Amino acid sequence: MQDFGDTAAATPLRIGVAGLGNVGATLVRILQKDAAELTKKLGRQIVVTAVAARSRSRDRGIDISGLDWFDDPVALAKSDGIDLFVELIGGEDGPAFAAVKAALEMGRPVVTANKALLAKHGVTLARMAEESGAQLGFEAAVAGGIPVIKTLREGLGSARIAKVYGIMNGTCNYILTRMGNEEISFAECLKDAQALGYAEADPTFDVEGFDTAHKLSILATLCFGYEIAPDKIHVEGISKITQHDIKVAADLGYKIKLLGIAQRSDDGIEQRVHPTFVPKGSAIAGVDGVMNAVALETDHVHELLLAGPGAGGPPTAASVMSDILDIARGTRVPPLGVPSEELLPFRQAPMRAHEGGYYIRLNAKDVPGALAAIATRMGERSISIDSVIQRSDLKAKDSTDDGVSTRTVVMITQKTLEADVRAALAQIRADGFIVGEPQLIRIELL
Ligand SMILES: NC(=O)c1ccc[n+]([C@@H]2O[C@H](COP(=O)([O-])OP(=O)(O)OC[C@H]3O[C@@H](n4cnc5c(N)ncnc54)[C@H](OP(=O)(O)O)[C@@H]3O)[C@@H](O)[C@H]2O)c1
Repeated sequence: MQDFGDTAAATPLRIGVAGLGNVGATLVRILQKDAAELTKKLGRQIVVTAVAARSRSRDRGIDISGLDWFDDPVALAKSDGIDLFVELIGGEDGPAFAAVKAALEMGRPVVTANKALLAKHGVTLARMAEESGAQLGFEAAVAGGIPVIKTLREGLGSARIAKVYGIMNGTCNYILTRMGNEEISFAECLKDAQALGYAEADPTFDVEGFDTAHKLSILATLCFGYEIAPDKIHVEGISKITQHDIKVAADLGYKIKLLGIAQRSDDGIEQRVHPTFVPKGSAIAGVDGVMNAVALETDHVHELLLAGPGAGGPPTAASVMSDILDIARGTRVPPLGVPSEELLPFRQAPMRAHEGGYYIRLNAKDVPGALAAIATRMGERSISIDSVIQRSDLKAKDSTDDGVSTRTVVMITQKTLEADVRAALAQIRADGFIVGEPQLIRIELL
């Protein structure tokens, strides 16, 4: 049995951290504060010896006086003074990519929290790591503090995954939760999220679903063994969700969540990110605020839900730490679950029919025959309407610029094909009976 008692004899693992922002500074703080405990746990000391960031003088609430400073993350990645390189700069290219590549090329293990980098270059980086014999950890890149990567790489044994879905962006979940609890608009919630530091000054990446898409593409690869394909995802964000949508959803027994969903079929992999009606009683509907959750549907263990904090310095740094500890222990697994040469070329499956159907909100002109014409167009595509809802309290009446009054009409369809719904709506628009863009939200039976 290995003796973990003689800690002084073991060589320390020297860590270089590039990026000292939210996550990087927290990581350095944890490594310094918990040094004795970590040494006891591992039988080996873990020490931060060098750091890189842009501004050397910025106060980060950590003591970096005894550490080597690098202005250039690539120079840090190659430095003789470290054994493991941690990249916490961010960005899909630029210094993050250059530095991670430099470390892997020389066989040096890397830990990163950078989902944008992984989504774009994950396969290349995994291949480099395998060729040089270096480990590549990225637990923190998906769902912050939730150990979903380790679960997929090591925890599920031979279980075959059929579907993965989840709430992977805390900003969106915070906004949708507040819209559901209080009668406030998307714009107001976004402003609060920015004031609280949950949303970036430019929130597009989060609220339009691209951040979720990056994370989903990484998860899909680990689940299904195909190459990462972030550009083969149908992506819709939450910026067009209104109080009308939220309230009708609640009336019908649903909540609206931004879900990333990837599933396997005979035709390949279907990947999509969009606002979704989820049944109020489902486990995922209970994941509110800035929390994240990832659900896995497998043949052996059936459904597994991992939930927890998806972002923030401490939870994200804790996931970075978990990769560092694995590397310190000598754990070796292919970064993407299987050796990169065994990854299949991505095969995009078409969007399939939804068991739960669709929620459609239209701003219909208040003229004779409009509703009948809309129903006819749906019928022509064999779309069965389950119910038509008009809530008089929800600004059902309005008027267009040319003075024609309109009313908001909500329809719930039965199971149908996405292509048929879109074709019917395009025809309805061309008929001139509606104003503006229709709202279309999928109902998922989870
Ligand atoms: N924040 C979260 O909750 C969270 C959650 C999951 C994953 N992540 C990922 O973790 C990574 C870091 O996120 P963060 O929130 O900590 O970012 P952040 O607060 O913006 O920090 C970025 C750090 O990188 C440094 N940096 C930027 N450009 C650099 C360059 N050219 N050379 C050297 N250093 C440079 C910055 O230096 P200065 O401080 O001197 O400007 C800063 O310390 C990102 O990939 C992010 O996607 C973050």
